[in-house]
Amino acid sequence: MSLRVVVGDITGLEVDAIVNAANETLLGGGGVDGAIHRAAGPELLEECRALGGCPTGEARLTRGYRLAARYVIHTVGPVWHGGSRGEAELLAACYASSLRLAEEHGLESVAFPAISTGVYRFPKEAACEIAVESARAWLREKKAPKEIVFCCFSESDGALYRARLNEKG
Ligand code: APR
Repeated sequence: MSLRVVVGDITGLEVDAIVNAANETLLGGGGVDGAIHRAAGPELLEECRALGGCPTGEARLTRGYRLAARYVIHTVGPVWHGGSRGEAELLAACYASSLRLAEEHGLESVAFPAISTGVYRFPKEAACEIAVESARAWLREKKAPKEIVFCCFSESDGALYRARLNEKG
């Protein structure tokens, strides 16, 4: 089992599933959501429409269509309101829900963006800690996925995740 960091566009990663930081409608948006829908093509939106949305903290699986990844795991992160509305627990739930779907479908490699840290304004450092600790907790208990990738969109985010991963877990 491995945890690794890459810096770049998640839509190009050749993993079994990439995770989308979606909203509760699952009907697309900006940020990584927009990039994934643009790269996957219109069939992704068609499949998402049939799902009827997704509550914050949960995750849904779709095919990847034109993406390099076979699947997309759509999860809905919390909007940051200062930290007193259970945002940390909801963000942790996004990682656990996504990893559970990956395990259920026998996926071996999953790539995450930095969920909620863009439009949803979750502080990056706190979100990074939740992401890495959630993945470590999962891998202590489970056998799959074998590889978890944190796909950062900037070198500074990459440095944050690398520093966190180099700390003893
Ligand atoms: N590849 C990897 N990471 C990306 C990409 C990309 N192509 N594009 C953006 N990111 C990064 C952002 O830099 C940020 O670190 O993804 C992280 C999450 O940012 P957002 O995409 O804004 O997602 P989020 O903060 O969870 O807000 C979700 O934004 O796009 C809408 O429909 C979406 O309403 C939802 C909301």
